[in-house]
Amino acid sequence: PKITYVSVDETARTIEVPVGTSVMRGAVFNDVDGIVAQCGGNAQCATCHVYVDEASADRLDAARPDEDHMLDFTASPRRDTSRLSCQLTVTEDLDGLIVHLPERQN
Ligand code: FES
Repeated sequence: PKITYVSVDETARTIEVPVGTSVMRGAVFNDVDGIVAQCGGNAQCATCHVYVDEASADRLDAARPDEDHMLDFTASPRRDTSRLSCQLTVTEDLDGLIVHLPERQN
């Protein structure tokens, strides 16, 4: 599945990310700037914050309580579309997902 990462300056990178990994790992393994992922994917740092594109938002399962809790600690403002990208597991259904990177992660 292809995931598109859009940075603050509107630069977009579309990357083929393997099923079963996370949207966060797809970024980190491909040197997408703007994802820090300090805790390594454990929903404990909020430095993998992304804004899911409005058009894609309803394709995702709702955040679990631990993710929802950490979303209150993002460095950039939390919005309705905010998610922790480490908690977004890539499936075939997510092909074409677009995420926007926040201004800062810490
Ligand atoms: Fe730490 Fe996602 S990598 S919360």
